[in-house]
Amino acid sequence: MRIDVITIFPEFFGVLDVSLLGKARESALVETQVHDLRESATVKADGSPDVHRTVDDAPFGGGAGMVMKADVWGKAIDRVLMPLGVLVIPSPAGVPFTQSLAAELSHAPQLVFACGRYEGIDARVAEHYADQGYRVLEVSLGDYVLNGGEVAAFAIIEAVTRLIPGFMGNAQSIVEESHADGLLEYPSYTRPASWRGIDVPEVLLSGHHARISEWRRAQQLARTRALRPDLLPPED
Ligand code: ADE
Repeated sequence: MRIDVITIFPEFFGVLDVSLLGKARESALVETQVHDLRESATVKADGSPDVHRTVDDAPFGGGAGMVMKADVWGKAIDRVLMPLGVLVIPSPAGVPFTQSLAAELSHAPQLVFACGRYEGIDARVAEHYADQGYRVLEVSLGDYVLNGGEVAAFAIIEAVTRLIPGFMGNAQSIVEESHADGLLEYPSYTRPASWRGIDVPEVLLSGHHARISEWRRAQQLARTRALRPDLLPPED
């Protein structure tokens, strides 16, 4: 998979090298390139040079904050987006990012992240690339507002790349983890069997695989019911 990130804070993505993702890059499963948006802001829309490399402007219709410029973003995206690439625009106004969306994106040959700041990117950018036949996804990490798309892009990259076949050492741990089957994960324990007066549930020491599976399933349901009832299928 090829991942391109366009941002006004390219230094932020230095952390890609030290995360789990570093391993995938070394093994050539993922190739990441980070691009400075301001390199596409050297010429104004009228063709004159822009020594300030302006990336934003006041919103039409008024209102607080600044909007990132369509002409600058168009130039930056045109430089990297490939024919089957997916354009991902992190935004609090996007569709919720979920494990199933991560799984879907793990099959894309290219992801291009457009990390907006301020009040977002001129809405014509998403419209234009969708009109051109590209898959364009505005994706939200959750119902809260970040200062920009960088943290969200990083989270999405980590969730997606670990699902690429061959990336994780233990494929079974992906199958069993939280959200893989729509429920929260069961609690896990390791030695010692007793710690600060708290004992590991007896069943886990029994070696009885069917009973262990049953117990874990019950724990998943109880935990999901208590903490995330919205994840449970509706009862009829
Ligand atoms: N940019 C700002 N807030 C965001 C959020 N919650 N999710 C994705 N991108 C964002």
